[in-house]
Amino acid sequence: MGEALPWGRRFLLCPPTHFAVAYEINPWMSTQVVVDRDRAQVQWEGLKAALEQAGATVEVQPPHPSVPDLVFTANAGIAWRQAFVPSHFRHPERQPETALDIAWFEAAGYEVRRLSADVGHEGAGDALPFGGVLVSAYRFRSDATAHTQLSRLLDVPVRSIELVDPRYYHLDITFCPLDSTRAMLWPGAWDSYGRTVIEALVPEPLVLEADEASAFVANSVVVGRTVLMPSCPPRVGRQLEAWGLTPVEVDVGEFLKAGGGCRCLTLALDM
Ligand code: ARG
Repeated sequence: MGEALPWGRRFLLCPPTHFAVAYEINPWMSTQVVVDRDRAQVQWEGLKAALEQAGATVEVQPPHPSVPDLVFTANAGIAWRQAFVPSHFRHPERQPETALDIAWFEAAGYEVRRLSADVGHEGAGDALPFGGVLVSAYRFRSDATAHTQLSRLLDVPVRSIELVDPRYYHLDITFCPLDSTRAMLWPGAWDSYGRTVIEALVPEPLVLEADEASAFVANSVVVGRTVLMPSCPPRVGRQLEAWGLTPVEVDVGEFLKAGGGCRCLTLALDM
């Protein structure tokens, strides 16, 4: 049995006070779709409670009226030991978030380290640690050139994965580390080189099926042996349980309207 992940006990969340689908920057978003903000608030509180129930500590970032996607804290940047590398967002709609994120992390005592201004990267949404390396994706939101910079800024080896399907525009909807040897994955979103990289890295993969991947099953948050999931198909649940993990479904339906699930709503502060 794999060792429990050494990270995933402290998270940053931001309440959906101003959450909306106000623009379309990924294929899941439609401004025709109305977000029920009261429902979103209840769901967000449910996620926060489930994280705490599983043994995690939650820190809360204040919301801001001009940035509805701030709720997706996974994209704030990468919090790595005492360093914070803020994101450089691809879309102008999200770029104002960076100043707010830097302010929060500076106040929290992190040392802010910057990517060069011309390089895009969307934080933990496109970077997850596994097996002693940082797996980072590029193309839709992040640039491959960010990876060498991240490796230098954080002093960690980085493995690059190219995303090929615009519906899977961030790594964290295709890859979910479960413990030291296992991860859920959706290889359909990666180019063939990326598949080879993950194949070499993950001894015991739980390969998702297309309908499971599109239900954001990989966008789950792991706290010790608990897996908080936007939904858990029976087949996936049986495998997780056989591995000694406990799947817990957390309804984040309002956030799926913006193309984000459980993982996107959290940023690990202990990577
Ligand atoms: N609407 C947001 C965007 O398109 C969703 C971000 C989801 N975050 C994530 N880590 N996958 O940027």
